Amino acid sequence: MKVLFVCLGNICRSPTAEGVFRQYVEQAGLSDKITIDSAGTADWHIGKAPDPRTVAAAAKRGYDLSPLRGRQAQAEDFAKFDLILAMDKSNLSNLQAIRPADAKAELALYLPRFGISPDEVPDPYYGGEDGFELVLDMLEQASEVLLDEIKAKL
Ligand code: 4NP
Repeated sequence: MKVLFVCLGNICRSPTAEGVFRQYVEQAGLSDKITIDSAGTADWHIGKAPDPRTVAAAAKRGYDLSPLRGRQAQAEDFAKFDLILAMDKSNLSNLQAIRPADAKAELALYLPRFGISPDEVPDPYYGGEDGFELVLDMLEQASEVLLDEIKAKL
């Protein structure tokens, strides 16, 4: 099972989604069965570490995002991954625009795909510290349901 998390810059939300879910998967002993990655729809932060505010907020909850580096989502990702999860509706429409006709991957908006509201993980980039905590809260909740669904299929 191969899961790709996608946001705009790949320095705030999707690296958090990746780091949180990676830890849930490790704790479940399923690291060898589930491949996890993240990407941005924009090319602004290719090769860059996540935003320091993102790294700090995640570290306080025990997630190490420091090894992650930004990359841009590509059409080929639709052949490489089984599930591509967009953080917001704008990310989703940007992904729909590059999705090949013969895409293997299921493409969905992350939170509603797992029955969680609201529909979008809000972009914390221009806001205060609270935004980063909210992103973590939402992504921890979603990771639990995502892991349950994958476990039931393995
Ligand atoms: P992300 O947040 O999509 O959650 O990584 C953003 C990061 C950078 C920018 C916007 C959103 N930016 O404008 O550079």
